[in-house]
Amino acid sequence: MPHITYVESDGTEHTVDVEENMNLMEGSTINLLPGIEGMCGGICSCCTCHVYIDENWAAKCNPMTEGEKHLLEGSKHRKASSRLGCQVVITYEMDGMRVHLPPDQT
Ligand code: FES
Repeated sequence: MPHITYVESDGTEHTVDVEENMNLMEGSTINLLPGIEGMCGGICSCCTCHVYIDENWAAKCNPMTEGEKHLLEGSKHRKASSRLGCQVVITYEMDGMRVHLPPDQT
Protein backbone atom coordinates (compact mmCIF):
# COMPACT_ATOMS: atom_id res chain seq x y z
CA MET A 1 0.00 0.00 0.00
CA PRO A 2 1.23 3.52 -0.68
CA HIS A 3 2.57 5.50 2.28
CA ILE A 4 1.11 8.99 2.53
CA THR A 5 2.32 11.64 4.98
CA TYR A 6 -0.21 14.21 6.16
CA VAL A 7 1.40 17.34 7.63
CA GLU A 8 -0.65 19.53 9.95
CA SER A 9 -0.21 23.31 9.73
CA ASP A 10 1.91 23.22 12.92
CA GLY A 11 4.31 20.75 11.28
CA THR A 12 3.06 17.61 13.02
CA GLU A 13 3.39 14.70 10.62
CA HIS A 14 1.36 11.50 10.34
CA THR A 15 2.49 8.78 7.92
CA VAL A 16 -0.07 6.09 7.13
CA ASP A 17 -0.61 3.26 4.65
CA VAL A 18 -3.55 3.90 2.35
CA GLU A 19 -5.09 1.44 -0.06
CA GLU A 20 -4.96 2.24 -3.73
CA ASN A 21 -8.19 3.66 -5.18
CA MET A 22 -9.14 5.30 -1.91
CA ASN A 23 -8.87 9.08 -1.94
CA LEU A 24 -6.76 11.39 0.22
CA MET A 25 -9.75 12.33 2.40
CA GLU A 26 -10.58 8.68 3.09
CA GLY A 27 -6.91 7.91 3.74
CA SER A 28 -6.93 10.47 6.54
CA THR A 29 -10.35 9.82 8.06
CA ILE A 30 -10.05 6.02 8.07
CA ASN A 31 -6.83 6.43 10.05
CA LEU A 32 -8.51 8.93 12.41
CA LEU A 33 -6.02 11.69 11.63
CA PRO A 34 -6.78 15.27 12.65
CA GLY A 35 -7.46 18.08 10.19
CA ILE A 36 -9.61 16.49 7.47
CA GLU A 37 -13.29 16.13 8.35
CA GLY A 38 -14.78 15.06 5.02
CA MET A 39 -18.19 16.35 6.13
CA CYS A 40 -19.94 15.77 2.79
CA GLY A 41 -18.63 12.23 2.48
CA GLY A 42 -16.64 13.03 -0.63
CA ILE A 43 -19.26 14.48 -2.97
CA CYS A 44 -17.31 17.70 -3.52
CA SER A 45 -19.58 20.05 -1.60
CA CYS A 46 -17.97 20.98 1.75
CA CYS A 47 -14.26 21.86 1.32
CA THR A 48 -13.34 20.29 4.72
CA CYS A 49 -10.82 18.05 2.97
CA HIS A 50 -8.65 20.86 1.62
CA VAL A 51 -4.98 19.89 1.19
CA TYR A 52 -1.87 21.31 -0.44
CA ILE A 53 0.08 19.00 -2.70
CA ASP A 54 3.74 19.69 -3.45
CA GLU A 55 4.46 20.49 -7.09
CA ASN A 56 6.59 17.38 -7.60
CA TRP A 57 3.63 15.18 -6.59
CA ALA A 58 0.88 17.14 -8.32
CA ALA A 59 1.65 15.59 -11.72
CA LYS A 60 0.91 12.14 -10.28
CA CYS A 61 -2.62 13.18 -9.28
CA ASN A 62 -5.75 12.90 -11.40
CA PRO A 63 -6.76 16.25 -12.93
CA MET A 64 -8.97 18.72 -11.09
CA THR A 65 -12.60 18.85 -12.18
CA GLU A 66 -14.54 22.07 -12.72
CA GLY A 67 -16.60 21.32 -9.61
CA GLU A 68 -13.50 20.96 -7.46
CA LYS A 69 -12.01 24.14 -8.91
CA HIS A 70 -15.22 26.07 -8.25
CA LEU A 71 -15.44 24.91 -4.63
CA LEU A 72 -11.79 25.72 -3.92
CA GLU A 73 -12.24 29.24 -5.27
CA GLY A 74 -14.35 29.95 -2.18
CA SER A 75 -11.61 28.95 0.25
CA LYS A 76 -9.74 31.81 1.89
CA HIS A 77 -6.64 29.62 2.20
CA ARG A 78 -6.56 28.58 -1.46
CA LYS A 79 -3.11 28.27 -3.06
CA ALA A 80 -1.90 27.09 -6.47
CA SER A 81 -1.20 23.71 -4.85
CA SER A 82 -4.71 23.34 -3.38
CA ARG A 83 -6.78 20.21 -3.98
CA LEU A 84 -9.80 18.66 -2.34
CA GLY A 85 -8.60 15.43 -0.79
CA CYS A 86 -11.79 13.59 -1.66
CA GLN A 87 -11.17 14.20 -5.34
CA VAL A 88 -7.59 12.86 -5.44
CA VAL A 89 -7.51 9.11 -6.04
CA ILE A 90 -4.53 7.31 -4.56
CA THR A 91 -2.36 5.19 -6.81
CA TYR A 92 0.82 3.28 -6.08
CA GLU A 93 2.74 6.05 -7.90
CA MET A 94 1.90 8.25 -4.92
CA ASP A 95 3.92 6.12 -2.48
CA GLY A 96 5.84 8.64 -0.35
CA MET A 97 3.56 11.58 -1.10
CA ARG A 98 3.35 14.40 1.43
CA VAL A 99 0.26 16.57 1.72
CA HIS A 100 -0.04 19.66 3.87
CA LEU A 101 -3.16 20.93 5.62
CA PRO A 102 -4.32 24.56 5.64
CA PRO A 103 -4.22 26.54 8.92
CA ASP A 104 -8.00 26.45 9.45
CA GLN A 105 -8.08 22.64 9.55
CA THR A 106 -6.73 21.44 12.90
S1 FES B 1 -15.16 15.74 1.67
FE1 FES B 1 -16.49 17.36 1.14
S2 FES B 1 -15.51 18.35 -0.51
FE2 FES B 1 -14.19 16.72 0.02
